[in-house]
Amino acid sequence: MKKAFVTGITGQDGSYLAEFLLHKEYEVHGLIRRSSTFNTERIDHLYHDFHTPDTKLFLHYGDLSVSGQLMDLLHSIQPDEIYHLGAQSHVRVSFDMPEYTGDVTGLGTLRILEAIRKTGIKTKFYQASSSEMFGAASPPQSENTTFQPRSPYAAAKVYAYYIVQNYRDAYGLFATNGILFNHESPRRGETFVTRKITRAATQIKLGLKNKLFLGNLDAKRDWGFAGDFVEAMWLMLQQDKPDDFVIATGETHSVREFTEKVFSKLNLDYNKYVSVDPRYFRPTEVDILLGDASKAKKALGWKPKVTFDALIDMMIATDMELAKKEKTLLDAGFSCNNSERLT
Ligand code: NAP
Ligand code: GDD
Repeated sequence: MKKAFVTGITGQDGSYLAEFLLHKEYEVHGLIRRSSTFNTERIDHLYHDFHTPDTKLFLHYGDLSVSGQLMDLLHSIQPDEIYHLGAQSHVRVSFDMPEYTGDVTGLGTLRILEAIRKTGIKTKFYQASSSEMFGAASPPQSENTTFQPRSPYAAAKVYAYYIVQNYRDAYGLFATNGILFNHESPRRGETFVTRKITRAATQIKLGLKNKLFLGNLDAKRDWGFAGDFVEAMWLMLQQDKPDDFVIATGETHSVREFTEKVFSKLNLDYNKYVSVDPRYFRPTEVDILLGDASKAKKALGWKPKVTFDALIDMMIATDMELAKKEKTLLDAGFSCNNSERLT
């Protein structure tokens, strides 16, 4: 039985990856942060009390800003594969918290690589690199495109990308960068634009809310489904040699187009409900991302399965169920969370 160690297991990708690996009979070890509120909602359906016989998912407290404990964990678990997904992953927030983002998103990667090197464990390492690193570079973006980062988050990911390549070359580690374009799902954090839109539109449809404030509607993204993208992560670590791969759908759509589509699928005119609030603008923006994943298609045999429309339908369906539950609670006199978030 193979063992995997997953940082960021409580996040969107971590939860899909944990499901995927458990289905493949891996023993999965996840790093979680102590929090005063529960942060394991996305993996609660996978977790069994560790006293249960045959349990395959184990959670360990830790933080990417602390190196000694990462070393102890890797030494005791001895994973065959490490998927490093943990990060301060919100681009807008990285302008508010640049130092923290550099520490966790940039140096966090170095801390794990150092833990591998110093413990001497034999393992394969996956780094969650990002299309945000391409920044101002003209589309389509591929493995050969020069990075032009436009945010503290992107700059931290560029550092992590190059330190992965350096540890590969200097110490012979099996360390691979997956350069993933945006991927979404019903488990997407509610402050990322797609989920912010599907959450608000379904709440508006049920009369729980009457306004949605967004930032730059003209930005374009190459949006895929997170469930498809975690399979690519696994495929990268099944190769004989480490390498770097772009993972993308090869289609790009604007935030306006995404918004219009979601509202029209709910028979609503987005113009009546959506307003632009400059508070959501970024000091520097990435105007257009469009990936060329032909290398991954050829070498890994990977291609996306879920279309743009199917992704939107999936997100609307889940958020409509959530909105219905909120409406029931509200009708019964309880409060529900439909307030604007900071981002
Ligand atoms: P996410 O939902 O924001 O999840 C981030 C995860 O990192 C969470 O489990 C979070 O824990 C954990 N984390 C944050 N700070 C930490 C710290 N100091 N110590 C330990 N864990 C920490 O992100 P995602 O969308 O799943 O993305 C996964 C990875 O892929 C990230 O590295 C992201 O930057 C990268 N990426 C994402 C995309 C995308 O479109 N989704 C595209 C390219 C690259 P809590 O639950 O406790 O907050
Ligand atoms: N979050 C947010 N909120 N974004 C908005 C809003 C809003 O109200 N209005 C417009 N946008 C625009 C942003 O300015 C950006 O151009 C686009 O919508 C997408 O924003 P996000 O969904 O926050 O994602 P992102 O592209 O900045 O970053 C995501 O993808 C990266 C890969 O390219 C994150 O998942 C990163 O972690 C990931 O690396």
